[in-house]
Parts: sequence; structure tokens; C-alpha cells
Amino acid sequence: MIRIITLVENTATKAKQRAEHGLSMFIERDGERVLFDTGQTDAVVHNAKLLGVELSGIDKVILSHGHYDHGGGLKHIADFSKFTVFAHPEIFRKRYSKLSDDGNLRYIGIEDRSFYEDLGVEFSLSEKPQEVIGGVYTSGFENMTTDFEEVDRNFVYEKDGEFLKDDVPDDMSVVIDTKDGVFVLFGCAHRGIINIMRDVEKKFGKKVVGFAGGTHLGPASKIQKERTIEALKRMDLKVMAPSHCTGLMMTSKLFCEFGSRVIFNNVGSVVEID
Ligand SMILES: [Fe+2]
Ligand SMILES: [Fe+2]
Repeated sequence: MIRIITLVENTATKAKQRAEHGLSMFIERDGERVLFDTGQTDAVVHNAKLLGVELSGIDKVILSHGHYDHGGGLKHIADFSKFTVFAHPEIFRKRYSKLSDDGNLRYIGIEDRSFYEDLGVEFSLSEKPQEVIGGVYTSGFENMTTDFEEVDRNFVYEKDGEFLKDDVPDDMSVVIDTKDGVFVLFGCAHRGIINIMRDVEKKFGKKVVGFAGGTHLGPASKIQKERTIEALKRMDLKVMAPSHCTGLMMTSKLFCEFGSRVIFNNVGSVVEID
């Protein structure tokens, strides 16, 4: 049995839970545990306690990409646990968004590698898939092949004093092996959920049976939204548990299209898979 518990998400539905723009999901499989992303603040620690998830002693964390709303909780968990971060080597890019209230670039990256190492965090960085616990892998670098998905145009990163377009090459997902196929967890899916699922099917040689997590469909273009829904109709997934950058409008749209196969995935939501 695999249990996925959402610890941090943009929406909370019960008393005392904290909601924030960010994502964190806890994965438990046959007694092994791994945290996927950490949200933006110490909300991950607060909500884990409320939800009865023991984070002390957690020794493996997968980071989907180097954005503050996924990596911000790392330093708070480092206060009481020693862990290895499994991620892509480009997570430390100095990255910015063009979308801000004051018209200036807004910093959206995480801290330097040395900052975390000083806290005792270790890193296992690879652009290839890594098996983190039994049957749970990072996706590795996600190839983009569709003609309707693109990385958010508002992202740039700084290199040698120059600002370059950030295609978020470090975006990685989690691939969970199940008896019927693979289940995919997205962080923000910056490289497109259909791209990612096709890439995973090719690399892992198994059909995707469902997904959970951020799809980045909220800010996507109308055409990307429509064509993603068309592609999803052809995939016949059993479970879709979108959250975070999907937004309530797009999640509702998916619910209208796919009915009870869609789960509103907020703080405290639990997805169980055989
Ligand atoms: Fe995000
Ligand atoms: Fe992101």
C-alpha cells in the first residue's frame, strides 16, 4: 500500500491547518518514507504535526525544482532531521519571475548549496532517474515533445550578470511503481503534464495510471488548457489529484470533464494506491 498525504497546499479545509502558495506531499510505502517538496515556510512542520505525520527522522527529501514555494521548508526540517535531497543539479539557479507587484524582477529561487550544507543537508543530484525508496523514483530530466505545452515565459535566471530565459530544466516529478502502471507526482509540472507523463512512459516502459500535484495549468494559455484536456481524455487515467498551481477554476474544469476520477487535493488530502 502506498499512501500520499498532502502536507502543504494553497488551500486548507480544516481547523488550524495552514494554507500557503506551495506544495509538499508525504509518501509512505511499506514502512519507508520520503517527503516530496517542502512548501514555502514552516507550514510543513505545523501541518505534519496536525495530520499525525512524523517528520523527525525523515532522511530523504525529493525536491521537484528550485523554486521557493517547494524548497522553502527545507531549512525548517533541517532543524530537527538530517536528510539527503534528491534533485536535479540545476536547482540552485538564481531565478526570478517577471510577475511582481512593483514591476521589478521577483526572486523565486532557493538558497545556495552551501547554506543547506551548513545546516547538515546532503545532496544527491542527477539528471537521470534515481530510486529514492523501494519503487519510488525521481523522473530525471523531462523531455518536452508536445507542441502545446511551454515553460512559463515569465521565468528568467541570472548567469554571469546576464538574464536568460529559464526553461526550468531541473523540473522533476516522482514516479511510483504500482501493480497496474506508474503513478506520477508533479511539483509544478513546469515542463507540461502531458510532456512529463509521455516522457515517464517512455523512460519507465509503463503506462501512467494517475497523477497528483501541481500542474501549472492555472497560469497556462487557453489553448494549452484545452489541448491538455483532450490529451487526458485519450490517456484514460484512473485518478487525477491536481493541486497548487492548477488553481480552483482549472481543478473544477477537470472535475466537470472527468467526474469522480478527479480528487480535490488540498492540505490533509490522502491518496492511497495498491
Ligand atoms: Fe510551485
Ligand atoms: Fe515552480
